[in-house]
Amino acid sequence: MSSWRRRHCFPLGWNWHTRRFMFHCFVLLVLFFFMFVLFHNNRWLPRQIMDKGIIQVDNTNSFQSKESETISKMLQKLVVFSLKNNRSYHKKVLRQRVTTAEITSNRVSQNTLHYGYIINEPDKCQKSTPFLILLIAVEPQQLSAREAIRQTWGKEDLFHGILIVKLFLLGRDSKGTDRTDQAIVDESNQYHDIIQQDYLDTYNNLTIKTLMGMHWIATFCPNVSYIMKTDSDMFVNTEHLIYRLLKPDAAPQTNYFTGYFMKGYAPNRNKNSKWYMPPELYPGDLYPPFCSGTGYVFSGDLAEKIYKVSLSIPRLHLEDVYIGVCLEKLGIKPVPPPKESYFNIWRVYYSDCVYNQIVTSHQFQPSELLKYWNQLQQNRHVCSKTPK
Ligand SMILES: *[C@@H]1O[C@H](CO)[C@@H](O)[C@H](O)[C@H]1NC(C)=O
Ligand SMILES: *[C@@H]1O[C@H](CO)[C@@H](O)[C@H](O)[C@H]1NC(C)=O
Ligand SMILES: *[C@@H]1O[C@H](CO)[C@@H](O)[C@H](O)[C@H]1NC(C)=O
Repeated sequence: MSSWRRRHCFPLGWNWHTRRFMFHCFVLLVLFFFMFVLFHNNRWLPRQIMDKGIIQVDNTNSFQSKESETISKMLQKLVVFSLKNNRSYHKKVLRQRVTTAEITSNRVSQNTLHYGYIINEPDKCQKSTPFLILLIAVEPQQLSAREAIRQTWGKEDLFHGILIVKLFLLGRDSKGTDRTDQAIVDESNQYHDIIQQDYLDTYNNLTIKTLMGMHWIATFCPNVSYIMKTDSDMFVNTEHLIYRLLKPDAAPQTNYFTGYFMKGYAPNRNKNSKWYMPPELYPGDLYPPFCSGTGYVFSGDLAEKIYKVSLSIPRLHLEDVYIGVCLEKLGIKPVPPPKESYFNIWRVYYSDCVYNQIVTSHQFQPSELLKYWNQLQQNRHVCSKTPK
């Protein structure tokens, strides 16, 4: 083997040292080539994993065994790392940007405009106008998630003088579980933090759920300064959100939309994927800029604008993409947060220092939420200078 190489791979005049040197260069080149392919042509990675990077994370039943889960997590991290470290990836090649007009004209179905409220809280803003409303998408049967949020980042009286309102967004139970309609009504009577409309609570109806929240704000709390829409498995550092990102002392902004900023993402055309987007529903090659549905924050004026414009845009089931389409039609550009690290679509490894300086982290079980929230409260302001 090596004598073959010596005879056939190098010009005869090269001495042994030059040959060894050239051979090492060749090996390095091959290595670099594979790294380049991995980082720049993500089609080489399993589709499911890329999906997670492209839209939003939900780690239910994607992988079966513990081993493949660990491997997939490592790969996810690698993908995120590579995406994060090469922003120009997002601007890759000139692809046709679809206009909302195109989507609208291409349309199949007529929007069902409004599902009636089963449970409502029309008086939440009567006495005074809140600074922040938290809209939290949660399924009816996820009682423990709601309980954990009520005891942690969803507490409405966390900060002196800053009025916060939280609302859990529910549809009708689609799984026929033990959490009966009556149980939800009882829970609502106890906490007054649930709104529910008459649509099936499924993943593909999340857009309806978000629009329910927009409708509620436009109707019952139009003067709120800011809104955050997030999910039930999120860790939200409400303090950092309020004092570092939104700043109650400053004049409220308008036409402001931020979160985990996603620009230059292409529709997923793999029919087996949870994030599959049929070309007939969205013909464009690229989505408009949007913010991941795991947690985005926007100024109060936008709720009504988004709701109204949504009436003329056929619903796409990917709610965060859909809100991006609405914003594009409104001519409003979502912006990245002041620090990229504020919003996270993955679970950020817990440390007091890091968690004092982020707004969101993903994939928390209710018990973990309680544990880490309490730990953070005991170590507030480690590494940060948040007032109060
Ligand atoms: C990022 O990716 C682009 C295109 O894929 C490439 O041209 C550029 O050199 C890369 N930049 C870095 C810093 O790796
Ligand atoms: C969404 O909700 C409507 C109304 O309940 C229901 O008819 C429809 O099947 C649901 N869609 C999905 C995809 O679950
Ligand atoms: C919102 O503000 C407008 C103008 O300042 C005011 O007329 C209206 O009554 C307020 N609405 C609520 C629900 O507070």
